Amino acid sequence: MEQIEYKLLTRRFDIIDALSIDDYIAQGGYTALAAAMKMKPEEIVEEVKLSGLRGRGGAAFPVGLKMDSVRKADSEVKYLICNADEGEPGNFKDRYLMEKDPHQVLEGMIICSAAVGAHKGYIFIRGEYTRSIYIMSSAVQAALEKGFLGKNILGTGHDFEIEIYTGAGSYVCGEEFALMLCIEGNPARSTYKPPFPTTEGLFGKPTQINNVESFANIPSIISMTGAEYSKIGTKDSKGTKLVSLCGNVVKKGLYEVPFGVSIRDVIDGPGGGPLQDGILMVQIGGASGPCLPPDMLDIPLDYKTFADQGLSLGSGAIIVIDRRFGVLDIVRNTLKFFKHESCGKCTPCREGIYHLLILFDKFILGQAEQKDLDTMMQLIETVEQTSICGLGQAAPTALKTTLHYFPQAYMSGMRTNRSRVI
Ligand SMILES: Cc1cc2nc3c(=O)[nH]c(=O)nc-3n(C[C@H](O)[C@H](O)[C@H](O)COP(=O)(O)O)c2cc1C
Ligand code: SF4
Repeated sequence: MEQIEYKLLTRRFDIIDALSIDDYIAQGGYTALAAAMKMKPEEIVEEVKLSGLRGRGGAAFPVGLKMDSVRKADSEVKYLICNADEGEPGNFKDRYLMEKDPHQVLEGMIICSAAVGAHKGYIFIRGEYTRSIYIMSSAVQAALEKGFLGKNILGTGHDFEIEIYTGAGSYVCGEEFALMLCIEGNPARSTYKPPFPTTEGLFGKPTQINNVESFANIPSIISMTGAEYSKIGTKDSKGTKLVSLCGNVVKKGLYEVPFGVSIRDVIDGPGGGPLQDGILMVQIGGASGPCLPPDMLDIPLDYKTFADQGLSLGSGAIIVIDRRFGVLDIVRNTLKFFKHESCGKCTPCREGIYHLLILFDKFILGQAEQKDLDTMMQLIETVEQTSICGLGQAAPTALKTTLHYFPQAYMSGMRTNRSRVI
């Protein structure tokens, strides 16, 4: 099999000591910052736009466009936030980025701060990631001592400080509005939008918020130019993707691949194939992602190909589930997860997921009837369409996609010969 890994963001992993800024500098670290500081803010934004980089936190919004909006926002005070909450089950890419090459993330944040005019940044790290918190805190201190952070960075007059903020174990904290409310000292709940963070974000000020992997790409884009970066990947998905490969696969782990490789390439290549008994399904992106049958695994990792099929690539986890497990057991787990994680603010999510679970259990018990199936389909649509934030909107995805791709699993959960019983 051809080599499918492409080490761009992971090229220094296990080569440098993550706690040594000198190791990072010796490997070319902070040269992109030095170059960026000689550029005009709009030139930095232009390079990121040219690169085609899209946000790696799940929604895939173009990073350069977001930077442009924040740069142009008319405000003395602007903020920058690195979203390192990584609460989506199955994902661990941001943890690896922070623990194996923390300065790459910091360098991306600092370059971005200069481009958008932010002087205060936060890294919101999932509370359970104690090692990431320690390593990122040490990296911030080391960058301050070297003059890459703080006042008058590299003598350019640009000031930027970073504060580490830790979450408290709630999945919704990763949603950008909930996250910002959390930093402001409020309970983590999402809210209606617009306005978007680019105009009214943290403390009501324009805010650039991006995922760890999004920021980690920025030094490479500046070093190699946006145009060169855009040659990696596909027409619609530029660059590389970090894939958290987990579940029933021989070599679980983090792999970096160019966009365009197929799911099967990742599983059978670096992943070494499924563990045993053949693949039942693969869930893409994490608990909020679609469950695909084995005959769809040749689909390439590409935002447009996924969108054309009504699917989302999410943040890039690939969860392999083999035939020792049942479709309904897997879906029940995801519904239970979302019921537990719903912040309770809006009715469709709070009540809808609860009732989906009740209906779903009828299939588990083999007691479902046609009207349960009909109600479930209607409820899926309501929860998807009317929940305030992405948690509720994506909560029924596993249920919906398994109803589509594995209808037999649900048919076998329906009460049969009912007319004779009556
Ligand atoms: C329930 C929920 C949880 C989320 N969790 C994360 C997360 O842990 N990390 C992340 O980067 N984005 C997460 N997001 C997406 C963020 O709201 C936001 O889109 C992202 O931080 C923007 O960065 P990007 O454009 O670089 O992807 C989550 C969204 C939802 C709806
Ligand atoms: S969709 Fe769910 S998590 Fe999001 S605001 Fe509504 S209740 Fe809260």
